[in-house]
Amino acid sequence: MNTSIETMLSRRSVRSFELNKTIPEEVLNTILKVGQQSPNSANGQQYSVIVVDNQNIKDQLVEITAPSSGNKMTYISKAPIFLLFVIDYNKIEKAIAMEGQEMIASENLESLLVGSVDVGISISAMSAAAESLGLGTVVVGAIRKDTTKIIDLFKLPKYTFPIAGMAIGYPSEKASTQITPRLSMETFAHRNVYKLDNFEKHLADYNQTMKEFYATRGIQDLTWSKFICKYYTKELYTDIAEVYQKQGLGLK
Ligand SMILES: Cc1cc2nc3c(=O)[nH]c(=O)nc-3n(C[C@H](O)[C@H](O)[C@H](O)COP(=O)(O)O)c2cc1C
Repeated sequence: MNTSIETMLSRRSVRSFELNKTIPEEVLNTILKVGQQSPNSANGQQYSVIVVDNQNIKDQLVEITAPSSGNKMTYISKAPIFLLFVIDYNKIEKAIAMEGQEMIASENLESLLVGSVDVGISISAMSAAAESLGLGTVVVGAIRKDTTKIIDLFKLPKYTFPIAGMAIGYPSEKASTQITPRLSMETFAHRNVYKLDNFEKHLADYNQTMKEFYATRGIQDLTWSKFICKYYTKELYTDIAEVYQKQGLGLK
């Protein structure tokens, strides 16, 4: 195993950062370069990132992402840098207009899929780069809790849409070093056709593993299946389609 693989396999989300330890500009620029250079659909580069180091903006993000019950994501305001990733068809629209033509593809649901995949790949590359440089990261999808406020706060123009964020900084001593276990490989990787055999057995084993994992974090009697009920038994962020369309993008 080489060191790149070792770093990737030992990664975990970091939600506690060393206060007052800033990220040197050259380190940040390297991470941004990795994000920009990542593969993207048709080299359309339909994504942008906003680098947030302003304390007031980070504090506002803690409020915007606050769950209706449970803990606020205060680590956003404690991280030296928060990156906001946006799907960005603004640049494409301008390039097409310069050619005297009209952007059409942004009117379809495909625009959301393309932009989201591009952003996801970019985030993944940037977090791997950051981790290889001793930094820790956590992706924050909760910025989609109120995309209207995010659009106002960051002055996002027409044809752009905020899709995710990432807090980044040096892990503090309090940051967990535990790797979150996953379901068995058989439930993830299928050969030639999708085949999910004996899922009940895999699930029972994983529930037991996660029960022990949560217990090490002081949470008793929680299994993975109970945990995901919290997320998937209700509607989430129900105004996404409306806000996406208000931004001049479409879901046809
Ligand atoms: C798209 C995406 C959105 C996420 N959103 C949040 C979030 O809003 N808040 C948070 O604390 N963690 C968030 N996470 C981190 C996940 O909770 C974490 O990756 C998952 O629990 C697995 O743990 P690990 O990263 O330590 O392996 C997000 C991760 C991804 C990839």
